[in-house]
Amino acid sequence: GSAPPELQEKTLVLVKPDAVQRRLVGTVIQRFERRGFKLVAMKLLQADRGLLDKHYQQLQQKPFYPALLAYMTSGPLVAMVWEGYNVVRSTRAMVGDTDSAMAAAGTIRGDLSMHVSRNVVHASDSVETAQREISFWFQRDELVAWESGDRDYTY
Ligand code: PPS
Repeated sequence: GSAPPELQEKTLVLVKPDAVQRRLVGTVIQRFERRGFKLVAMKLLQADRGLLDKHYQQLQQKPFYPALLAYMTSGPLVAMVWEGYNVVRSTRAMVGDTDSAMAAAGTIRGDLSMHVSRNVVHASDSVETAQREISFWFQRDELVAWESGDRDYTY
């Protein structure tokens, strides 16, 4: 699109299987829309082990990894790409602490999750991680460039 580059930062958000089962997909989407971020890709899918091994490459040796895999393959999840100014940092703040007990009220996890093993969403932790993660979950042509009048209200 023709939006300035600082408005084109992207992040990957996964609405995890527990949230799909709890009918929280719309609630999660609504929070990002209301913040002003732009949805540029989205799909519902059943993740397989190969994809999750790539996505969670850094975690494969952790003791909780088998439980994380079982959780993430327990049903369909929704993968989304959100775009906008500082979207990676803003999204991490909106998602809240990984440990649900420490997640501030008002954050997605602080409002919707009780435990790290059912923590509703994943969000990329840096711009570089986001680029890598987006490439695992989406083909290049699944990202849609569209104009949303960002220049009128984003700053
Ligand atoms: S670590 O050890 O610091 O690298 O892990 P951490 O950053 O706390 O968490 C990394 C991701 O692993 C998930 N996680 C878990 N899932 C299921 N069960 C347990 N016990 C568990 N502990 C950590 C955590 O939610 C992070 O996943 P994402 O999807 O990135 O939020």
